[in-house]
Amino acid sequence: GTGRPAGTVGFDAAGEDPGPSPRDPAPLGLLAELTYRCPLHCTYCSNPVELSAYRDELGTADWLRVLDEARDLGVLQVHFSGGEPMLRPDLVDLVAHARTLGMYSNLVTSGIPLSEARLAALAGAGLEHLQLSIQDAEPAAADEVAGMPAHDRKLAVARQARAYGLPLTVNVVLHRANVGRLLAIAELAVGLGADRLELAHTQFYGWGLRNRAALMPTPEQVATAQRDAETAHARYGDALELVYVAADYHADRPKPCMSGWGARQLVVAPNGDALPCLAAAQLPDLGIENVRARPLGDIWYSSPSFNRFRGTGWMPDPCRSCALREIDFGGCRCQAYQVTGDPAATDPACGLSPHHERLTRITAAAGTAAAAPVPRRMA
Ligand code: SF4
Ligand code: FES
Repeated sequence: GTGRPAGTVGFDAAGEDPGPSPRDPAPLGLLAELTYRCPLHCTYCSNPVELSAYRDELGTADWLRVLDEARDLGVLQVHFSGGEPMLRPDLVDLVAHARTLGMYSNLVTSGIPLSEARLAALAGAGLEHLQLSIQDAEPAAADEVAGMPAHDRKLAVARQARAYGLPLTVNVVLHRANVGRLLAIAELAVGLGADRLELAHTQFYGWGLRNRAALMPTPEQVATAQRDAETAHARYGDALELVYVAADYHADRPKPCMSGWGARQLVVAPNGDALPCLAAAQLPDLGIENVRARPLGDIWYSSPSFNRFRGTGWMPDPCRSCALREIDFGGCRCQAYQVTGDPAATDPACGLSPHHERLTRITAAAGTAAAAPVPRRMA
Protein backbone atom coordinates (compact mmCIF):
# COMPACT_ATOMS: atom_id res chain seq x y z
CA GLY A 1 0.00 0.00 0.00
CA THR A 2 1.01 3.55 -0.47
CA GLY A 3 0.47 6.64 1.62
CA ARG A 4 -2.21 8.97 0.51
CA PRO A 5 -1.78 11.94 2.80
CA ALA A 6 -4.61 14.39 2.37
CA GLY A 7 -3.71 18.01 2.13
CA THR A 8 -5.48 21.28 1.74
CA VAL A 9 -3.99 24.65 1.10
CA GLY A 10 -3.98 26.59 4.35
CA PHE A 11 -5.12 30.12 5.05
CA ASP A 12 -3.19 32.40 7.35
CA ALA A 13 -4.30 33.35 10.85
CA ALA A 14 -6.08 36.48 9.68
CA GLY A 15 -8.21 34.30 7.44
CA GLU A 16 -6.81 35.78 4.27
CA ASP A 17 -5.65 33.72 1.38
CA PRO A 18 -1.94 34.48 1.17
CA GLY A 19 -2.15 33.76 -2.56
CA PRO A 20 0.35 31.90 -4.66
CA SER A 21 3.95 32.42 -3.67
CA PRO A 22 6.79 32.09 -6.14
CA ARG A 23 7.64 28.80 -4.40
CA ASP A 24 4.19 27.23 -4.91
CA PRO A 25 3.38 24.43 -4.92
CA ALA A 26 5.20 22.98 -1.92
CA PRO A 27 4.85 19.26 -1.23
CA LEU A 28 3.31 18.04 2.03
CA GLY A 29 4.17 14.38 1.82
CA LEU A 30 7.19 12.26 0.93
CA LEU A 31 6.85 8.59 0.09
CA ALA A 32 10.28 7.22 0.97
CA GLU A 33 10.58 3.85 -0.76
CA LEU A 34 13.56 2.55 1.19
CA THR A 35 13.90 -0.77 -0.61
CA TYR A 36 11.99 -2.92 -3.07
CA ARG A 37 13.18 -6.05 -1.29
CA CYS A 38 10.28 -7.83 0.40
CA PRO A 39 9.76 -11.28 1.89
CA LEU A 40 6.19 -11.39 0.54
CA HIS A 41 5.10 -12.14 -3.03
CA CYS A 42 1.77 -10.33 -3.36
CA THR A 43 0.49 -10.57 -6.91
CA TYR A 44 -1.09 -7.08 -6.81
CA CYS A 45 2.07 -5.23 -5.73
CA SER A 46 2.34 -1.83 -7.41
CA ASN A 47 6.15 -1.90 -7.40
CA PRO A 48 7.81 -2.04 -10.82
CA VAL A 49 8.16 -5.47 -12.38
CA GLU A 50 11.88 -4.74 -13.00
CA LEU A 51 12.72 -4.95 -9.30
CA SER A 52 16.33 -5.99 -9.84
CA ALA A 53 17.06 -2.58 -11.42
CA TYR A 54 16.70 -1.09 -7.91
CA ARG A 55 19.32 -3.15 -6.05
CA ASP A 56 21.69 -0.18 -5.72
CA GLU A 57 19.89 1.39 -2.76
CA LEU A 58 20.60 4.78 -1.23
CA GLY A 59 22.70 4.55 1.91
CA THR A 60 21.85 5.94 5.32
CA ALA A 61 23.67 9.25 4.80
CA ASP A 62 21.79 9.82 1.55
CA TRP A 63 18.43 9.18 3.17
CA LEU A 64 19.25 11.47 6.11
CA ARG A 65 20.09 14.20 3.60
CA VAL A 66 16.91 13.49 1.59
CA LEU A 67 14.91 13.96 4.79
CA ASP A 68 16.68 17.27 5.46
CA GLU A 69 16.02 18.44 1.92
CA ALA A 70 12.40 17.32 2.08
CA ARG A 71 11.84 19.25 5.30
CA ASP A 72 13.45 22.36 3.77
CA LEU A 73 11.05 21.97 0.87
CA GLY A 74 8.07 21.99 3.25
CA VAL A 75 7.36 18.27 3.63
CA LEU A 76 5.59 17.52 6.92
CA GLN A 77 4.71 13.86 6.52
CA VAL A 78 7.05 11.05 5.60
CA HIS A 79 5.79 7.60 4.72
CA PHE A 80 8.53 4.98 5.03
CA SER A 81 7.57 2.38 2.51
CA GLY A 82 8.90 -0.13 -0.02
CA GLY A 83 9.02 -3.10 -0.66
CA GLU A 84 9.39 -3.87 3.00
CA PRO A 85 11.05 -0.99 4.89
CA MET A 86 11.70 -3.21 7.93
CA LEU A 87 14.49 -4.85 5.90
CA ARG A 88 16.53 -1.64 6.24
CA PRO A 89 18.76 -1.87 9.33
CA ASP A 90 18.80 1.96 9.53
CA LEU A 91 15.03 2.39 9.74
CA VAL A 92 15.03 3.42 13.41
CA ASP A 93 17.69 6.07 12.69
CA LEU A 94 15.65 7.45 9.79
CA VAL A 95 12.50 7.63 11.91
CA ALA A 96 14.46 9.34 14.69
CA HIS A 97 15.81 11.88 12.20
CA ALA A 98 12.35 12.62 10.82
CA ARG A 99 11.24 13.21 14.39
CA THR A 100 14.14 15.63 14.99
CA LEU A 101 13.03 17.55 11.91
CA GLY A 102 9.48 17.76 13.24
CA MET A 103 8.03 15.52 10.57
CA TYR A 104 5.15 13.11 11.12
CA SER A 105 6.34 9.61 10.27
CA ASN A 106 4.28 6.69 9.10
CA LEU A 107 5.57 3.16 8.55
CA VAL A 108 3.94 1.28 5.67
CA THR A 109 4.77 -2.35 6.37
CA SER A 110 3.78 -5.95 5.76
CA GLY A 111 4.70 -6.57 9.39
CA ILE A 112 7.41 -9.05 8.36
CA PRO A 113 10.02 -9.04 9.71
CA LEU A 114 8.92 -6.96 12.68
CA SER A 115 9.98 -8.16 16.12
CA GLU A 116 8.49 -6.68 19.25
CA ALA A 117 11.91 -5.24 20.16
CA ARG A 118 12.14 -3.46 16.82
CA LEU A 119 8.62 -2.12 17.19
CA ALA A 120 9.51 -0.79 20.63
CA ALA A 121 12.60 0.90 19.17
CA LEU A 122 10.54 2.51 16.41
CA ALA A 123 7.96 3.77 18.87
CA GLY A 124 10.79 5.10 21.05
CA ALA A 125 12.33 6.86 18.04
CA GLY A 126 9.12 8.76 17.47
CA LEU A 127 7.20 6.73 14.91
CA GLU A 128 3.70 8.17 14.88
CA HIS A 129 1.68 5.75 12.81
CA LEU A 130 1.79 2.19 11.56
CA GLN A 131 0.06 1.07 8.38
CA LEU A 132 -0.10 -2.70 8.26
CA SER A 133 -1.12 -4.67 5.20
CA ILE A 134 -3.34 -7.69 5.64
CA GLN A 135 -4.20 -9.91 2.69
CA ASP A 136 -7.52 -11.43 3.68
CA ALA A 137 -9.72 -12.46 6.60
CA GLU A 138 -9.23 -16.10 5.70
CA PRO A 139 -5.75 -17.20 6.92
CA ALA A 140 -5.07 -19.79 4.20
CA ALA A 141 -6.17 -17.44 1.42
CA ALA A 142 -4.09 -14.63 2.94
CA ASP A 143 -0.97 -16.78 3.09
CA GLU A 144 -1.55 -17.93 -0.47
CA VAL A 145 -1.42 -14.33 -1.71
CA ALA A 146 1.57 -13.47 0.49
CA GLY A 147 3.37 -16.57 -0.76
CA MET A 148 4.41 -17.45 2.80
CA PRO A 149 2.88 -18.05 6.24
CA ALA A 150 2.37 -14.41 7.16
CA HIS A 151 -1.17 -13.91 8.40
CA ASP A 152 -0.81 -14.92 12.05
CA ARG A 153 2.40 -12.90 12.41
CA LYS A 154 0.63 -9.84 11.06
CA LEU A 155 -2.14 -10.20 13.61
CA ALA A 156 0.50 -10.36 16.34
CA VAL A 157 2.14 -7.17 15.00
CA ALA A 158 -1.22 -5.39 15.04
CA ARG A 159 -1.72 -6.31 18.70
CA GLN A 160 1.80 -5.21 19.60
CA ALA A 161 1.29 -1.89 17.83
CA ARG A 162 -1.81 -1.29 19.93
CA ALA A 163 0.12 -2.27 23.06
CA TYR A 164 2.72 0.42 22.25
CA GLY A 165 -0.03 2.96 21.67
CA LEU A 166 0.76 3.38 17.97
CA PRO A 167 -2.19 4.50 15.86
CA LEU A 168 -2.89 1.66 13.44
CA THR A 169 -4.23 1.60 9.91
CA VAL A 170 -5.01 -1.80 8.43
CA ASN A 171 -4.71 -1.76 4.65
CA VAL A 172 -6.32 -4.49 2.57
CA VAL A 173 -6.03 -4.64 -1.21
CA LEU A 174 -9.23 -5.99 -2.74
CA HIS A 175 -9.25 -8.26 -5.79
CA ARG A 176 -11.35 -11.00 -7.28
CA ALA A 177 -10.35 -13.66 -4.77
CA ASN A 178 -10.94 -11.71 -1.53
CA VAL A 179 -13.48 -8.98 -2.34
CA GLY A 180 -16.36 -11.27 -1.37
CA ARG A 181 -15.02 -11.29 2.21
CA LEU A 182 -15.09 -7.52 2.65
CA LEU A 183 -17.34 -7.68 5.71
CA ALA A 184 -15.24 -10.38 7.37
CA ILE A 185 -12.14 -8.27 6.69
CA ALA A 186 -13.78 -5.26 8.34
CA GLU A 187 -14.72 -7.37 11.34
CA LEU A 188 -11.13 -8.59 11.64
CA ALA A 189 -9.78 -5.01 11.56
CA VAL A 190 -12.22 -3.93 14.27
CA GLY A 191 -11.18 -6.90 16.38
CA LEU A 192 -7.53 -5.89 16.03
CA GLY A 193 -8.32 -2.44 17.40
CA ALA A 194 -7.40 -0.61 14.19
CA ASP A 195 -8.08 3.11 14.17
CA ARG A 196 -8.51 3.11 10.43
CA LEU A 197 -9.23 0.56 7.75
CA GLU A 198 -8.36 1.11 4.11
CA LEU A 199 -10.27 -1.17 1.79
CA ALA A 200 -8.61 -0.43 -1.51
CA HIS A 201 -9.45 -2.05 -4.80
CA THR A 202 -6.27 -3.06 -6.64
CA GLN A 203 -4.56 -0.22 -8.46
CA PHE A 204 -3.20 -1.69 -11.66
CA TYR A 205 0.49 -0.73 -11.72
CA GLY A 206 3.63 -2.86 -11.76
CA TRP A 207 2.89 -6.43 -10.72
CA GLY A 208 -0.78 -5.58 -10.35
CA LEU A 209 -0.91 -4.54 -14.00
CA ARG A 210 0.93 -7.65 -15.04
CA ASN A 211 -1.62 -9.76 -13.13
CA ARG A 212 -4.61 -7.64 -14.05
CA ALA A 213 -6.61 -10.38 -15.75
CA ALA A 214 -6.37 -12.66 -12.72
CA LEU A 215 -7.05 -9.91 -10.17
CA MET A 216 -9.84 -7.98 -11.89
CA PRO A 217 -13.16 -8.24 -10.05
CA THR A 218 -16.34 -8.68 -12.06
CA PRO A 219 -18.81 -5.78 -12.30
CA GLU A 220 -21.17 -7.76 -10.02
CA GLN A 221 -18.43 -8.16 -7.40
CA VAL A 222 -17.71 -4.44 -7.48
CA ALA A 223 -21.40 -3.60 -7.03
CA THR A 224 -21.61 -6.00 -4.06
CA ALA A 225 -18.42 -4.59 -2.58
CA GLN A 226 -19.84 -1.08 -2.74
CA ARG A 227 -22.91 -2.22 -0.79
CA ASP A 228 -20.77 -4.19 1.68
CA ALA A 229 -18.57 -1.14 2.25
CA GLU A 230 -21.69 0.86 3.12
CA THR A 231 -22.83 -1.91 5.48
CA ALA A 232 -19.37 -1.98 7.10
CA HIS A 233 -19.50 1.76 7.51
CA ALA A 234 -22.91 1.59 9.20
CA ARG A 235 -21.79 -1.31 11.40
CA TYR A 236 -18.29 -0.22 12.40
CA GLY A 237 -18.14 3.49 11.55
CA ASP A 238 -18.13 4.42 15.24
CA ALA A 239 -15.26 2.04 16.01
CA LEU A 240 -12.90 3.03 13.19
CA GLU A 241 -12.44 5.29 10.22
CA LEU A 242 -13.25 3.39 7.07
CA VAL A 243 -11.69 4.45 3.78
CA TYR A 244 -12.97 2.77 0.64
CA VAL A 245 -10.84 3.19 -2.48
CA ALA A 246 -13.02 2.61 -5.52
CA ALA A 247 -12.29 0.29 -8.44
CA ASP A 248 -11.61 2.95 -11.03
CA TYR A 249 -11.67 0.61 -14.04
CA HIS A 250 -15.32 0.10 -13.12
CA ALA A 251 -16.07 3.76 -12.50
CA ASP A 252 -16.81 6.60 -14.88
CA ARG A 253 -14.71 9.26 -13.22
CA PRO A 254 -10.97 8.90 -12.52
CA LYS A 255 -9.19 9.17 -9.20
CA PRO A 256 -7.37 12.47 -8.52
CA CYS A 257 -4.04 10.65 -8.68
CA MET A 258 -1.42 12.03 -6.24
CA SER A 259 -3.77 15.04 -5.73
CA GLY A 260 -2.26 16.34 -8.95
CA TRP A 261 1.14 15.81 -10.55
CA GLY A 262 3.93 17.66 -8.77
CA ALA A 263 1.40 19.31 -6.46
CA ARG A 264 1.32 17.78 -2.96
CA GLN A 265 3.53 14.72 -2.80
CA LEU A 266 6.67 13.13 -4.14
CA VAL A 267 8.28 9.74 -4.17
CA VAL A 268 11.93 8.80 -3.77
CA ALA A 269 12.60 5.30 -5.11
CA PRO A 270 15.17 2.95 -3.49
CA ASN A 271 17.83 3.93 -6.05
CA GLY A 272 17.35 7.64 -5.37
CA ASP A 273 15.17 8.47 -8.37
CA ALA A 274 12.83 11.34 -7.45
CA LEU A 275 9.41 10.60 -8.92
CA PRO A 276 6.15 12.52 -9.14
CA CYS A 277 4.25 9.28 -8.45
CA LEU A 278 4.97 5.66 -7.61
CA ALA A 279 4.59 4.37 -11.18
CA ALA A 280 6.28 7.21 -13.09
CA ALA A 281 9.50 5.31 -13.85
CA GLN A 282 7.76 3.60 -16.77
CA LEU A 283 6.80 6.84 -18.57
CA PRO A 284 8.83 7.55 -21.73
CA ASP A 285 11.21 10.52 -21.92
CA LEU A 286 10.24 11.85 -18.51
CA GLY A 287 13.76 13.01 -17.66
CA ILE A 288 13.79 11.47 -14.17
CA GLU A 289 16.50 12.89 -11.90
CA ASN A 290 18.23 11.31 -8.94
CA VAL A 291 18.75 12.69 -5.44
CA ARG A 292 22.40 11.54 -5.59
CA ALA A 293 22.99 14.12 -8.33
CA ARG A 294 20.74 17.05 -7.48
CA PRO A 295 19.06 18.49 -4.37
CA LEU A 296 15.43 17.45 -3.91
CA GLY A 297 14.20 21.05 -3.93
CA ASP A 298 15.77 21.70 -7.34
CA ILE A 299 14.25 18.52 -8.71
CA TRP A 300 10.80 19.40 -7.33
CA TYR A 301 10.75 22.90 -8.81
CA SER A 302 12.94 22.72 -11.89
CA SER A 303 13.11 19.20 -13.31
CA PRO A 304 11.36 18.33 -16.58
CA SER A 305 9.71 15.34 -14.90
CA PHE A 306 7.93 17.30 -12.13
CA ASN A 307 6.91 20.08 -14.52
CA ARG A 308 5.70 17.84 -17.30
CA PHE A 309 2.08 17.46 -16.07
CA ARG A 310 1.94 20.19 -13.45
CA GLY A 311 -1.15 22.40 -13.50
CA THR A 312 -3.63 22.19 -16.38
CA GLY A 313 -1.71 23.60 -19.35
CA TRP A 314 -0.67 20.17 -20.65
CA MET A 315 -4.23 18.85 -20.80
CA PRO A 316 -5.86 17.74 -24.03
CA ASP A 317 -9.59 17.73 -24.62
CA PRO A 318 -11.90 16.68 -23.04
CA CYS A 319 -10.04 17.67 -19.81
CA ARG A 320 -8.92 21.05 -21.14
CA SER A 321 -12.47 22.42 -21.17
CA CYS A 322 -13.90 20.27 -18.37
CA ALA A 323 -15.31 21.78 -15.16
CA LEU A 324 -13.68 18.99 -13.13
CA ARG A 325 -10.11 19.52 -14.33
CA GLU A 326 -8.96 21.06 -11.04
CA ILE A 327 -10.85 18.41 -9.04
CA ASP A 328 -9.47 15.20 -10.56
CA PHE A 329 -6.53 16.69 -12.52
CA GLY A 330 -7.42 14.54 -15.51
CA GLY A 331 -6.85 11.36 -13.49
CA CYS A 332 -3.70 9.29 -13.61
CA ARG A 333 -0.86 9.84 -16.12
CA CYS A 334 0.48 6.34 -15.65
CA GLN A 335 -2.89 4.73 -16.25
CA ALA A 336 -3.35 6.90 -19.37
CA TYR A 337 0.03 5.68 -20.63
CA GLN A 338 -0.59 2.04 -19.76
CA VAL A 339 -3.93 1.91 -21.53
CA THR A 340 -3.55 4.38 -24.42
CA GLY A 341 0.23 4.64 -24.90
CA ASP A 342 0.03 8.42 -24.35
CA PRO A 343 0.83 9.72 -20.84
CA ALA A 344 -0.84 13.06 -21.67
CA ALA A 345 -4.17 11.47 -22.61
CA THR A 346 -7.25 11.81 -20.42
CA ASP A 347 -7.29 8.92 -17.95
CA PRO A 348 -9.40 6.22 -19.65
CA ALA A 349 -11.17 5.67 -16.31
CA CYS A 350 -13.07 8.85 -17.22
CA GLY A 351 -16.33 8.23 -19.08
CA LEU A 352 -15.52 11.26 -21.25
CA SER A 353 -12.25 9.73 -22.46
CA PRO A 354 -12.36 8.53 -26.07
CA HIS A 355 -10.60 5.39 -24.77
CA HIS A 356 -13.02 4.60 -21.93
CA GLU A 357 -14.41 1.49 -23.62
CA ARG A 358 -10.97 -0.12 -23.44
CA LEU A 359 -11.59 -0.37 -19.70
CA THR A 360 -15.20 -1.49 -20.01
CA ARG A 361 -14.03 -4.28 -22.32
CA ILE A 362 -11.50 -5.37 -19.68
CA THR A 363 -13.99 -5.30 -16.81
CA ALA A 364 -16.61 -7.15 -18.86
CA ALA A 365 -14.06 -9.93 -19.45
CA ALA A 366 -13.23 -10.24 -15.74
CA GLY A 367 -13.55 -13.76 -14.39
CA THR A 368 -12.88 -15.43 -17.73
CA ALA A 369 -9.07 -15.52 -17.45
CA ALA A 370 -7.69 -18.94 -16.61
CA ALA A 371 -4.05 -17.85 -16.13
CA ALA A 372 -2.74 -17.91 -12.57
CA PRO A 373 -1.19 -14.64 -11.32
CA VAL A 374 2.61 -14.36 -11.25
CA PRO A 375 3.98 -13.88 -7.71
CA ARG A 376 6.11 -10.78 -7.17
CA ARG A 377 9.81 -11.67 -7.20
CA MET A 378 13.02 -9.72 -7.11
CA ALA A 379 14.87 -11.58 -9.86
FE1 SF4 B 1 -11.64 14.73 -15.20
FE2 SF4 B 1 -10.70 15.14 -17.66
FE3 SF4 B 1 -12.75 13.45 -17.24
FE4 SF4 B 1 -13.12 16.09 -16.93
S1 SF4 B 1 -12.63 15.01 -18.84
S2 SF4 B 1 -13.88 14.47 -15.55
S3 SF4 B 1 -11.09 16.69 -16.09
S4 SF4 B 1 -10.62 13.22 -16.50
FE1 FES C 1 1.56 7.86 -11.93
FE2 FES C 1 -1.08 8.07 -11.22
S1 FES C 1 0.40 6.50 -10.67
S2 FES C 1 0.18 9.55 -12.18
